[in-house]
Amino acid sequence: MHKSKHPATICLHEGYQATGNDPLIMPIYQTSTFVFESCEFGGECFSGEQNGNIYTRLGNPNFHAVEAKIAALEGAEAAVLTSSGMGAIAATLWTLLSSGDHLIAAKTIYGCTFSLFSHHLSRFGIEVEFIDFNDLAQLKNALKSNTKAIFFETPANPDLSIYDIRQISTIAHQYNSEIQVIIDNTFATPILQQPIKLGADIVVHSATKALNGHSDIISGVVVGKAELMQRIQMEGIKDLTGAVPSPHDASLLLRGLKTLSIRVKAQNEQTMRIASALENHPAVEKVIFPGLSSHPQHELATQQMTGFGNIISFNIKGGFDAAKRMLNSVELCALAVSLGCVHTLIQHPASMTHSSYSAEELANAGIANNLIRISIGLEDYEDIWSDLNQALNYSQI
Ligand SMILES: Cc1ncc(COP(=O)(O)O)c(C=O)c1O
Repeated sequence: MHKSKHPATICLHEGYQATGNDPLIMPIYQTSTFVFESCEFGGECFSGEQNGNIYTRLGNPNFHAVEAKIAALEGAEAAVLTSSGMGAIAATLWTLLSSGDHLIAAKTIYGCTFSLFSHHLSRFGIEVEFIDFNDLAQLKNALKSNTKAIFFETPANPDLSIYDIRQISTIAHQYNSEIQVIIDNTFATPILQQPIKLGADIVVHSATKALNGHSDIISGVVVGKAELMQRIQMEGIKDLTGAVPSPHDASLLLRGLKTLSIRVKAQNEQTMRIASALENHPAVEKVIFPGLSSHPQHELATQQMTGFGNIISFNIKGGFDAAKRMLNSVELCALAVSLGCVHTLIQHPASMTHSSYSAEELANAGIANNLIRISIGLEDYEDIWSDLNQALNYSQI
């Protein structure tokens, strides 16, 4: 499909287009392997002379449809689908890094990504340095001859820090054009932010979240230059991690993506209203949301994104006890990890999604015990606010 189509149209049409007497909806290729019409053809598929289907760990028509849609949304050459967001991150890093290499990462990132970087990459001789990407002097000091990649989320999980993708990519590439700038774009989605157009090299997503939107699959995706995506497919996914989704999950993701644009817009709108209401609630100490003028990088978010997303973090008055009272008394909102989906989800980062950080690391990452993260869904605004309001009031008793 022509790449100049608008996001809502790409969400519906890119990747699979019925023609003639085709089914309108793409069938599910629920198969592990594909038949070769001849021995010669099979050999040519393996050598790359033919572009045929081989075996689902190497690709599947349902994956290709999703990959084409997400690549078009991100404004990138190609994408590769993985079995989870962690699969996307691991497959990318296992492909790019070797023993003796140096990775620069943001100090506040999703807990399991932090765990992979801080506890496990070192076992394979990879050095990881955690910095604050809003302090560009720290970035300039951290860059070294063996720096192979830079990794951050923007907005970041869970403190919603916004980092300047263009400036960071320019600094890294001026130092060494081979450095791969990797952005986890899960919170923003390509509807609100397209990091590759701002100079980043690779985008990763937990497609479990807004891309699918319905909390019924675990999935991930890596996006970037076609040649590198081919390497990540054939090394990172095929050989190193085996992080392959099922065709059925890819089909659910293809369906979820059809409404991505409209979901993100509707969720953005009511998240802005909830953030403002939270700011005025007496039980709330501080609201962190890039759409509020009180957010330290509000201006940058306005320039870099076309909306502020559906995640809000806030510090509640009364510490951990008040946080527990609030979380135990929500009725409509689900007390559950994950985010970006049609249901409103609320959780406690320090004891849940970010529990892999030590107490000292939590303090360094700005994740306090009274911090609550909420992902606003598609229930009616009045009903969400009424539930949050009663739970906040109860937290202070
Ligand atoms: C920003 C971010 N990246 C990556 C992941 C990992 O994704 P998955 O759970 O699909 O492996 C998560 C999960 O919460 C996340 O929030």
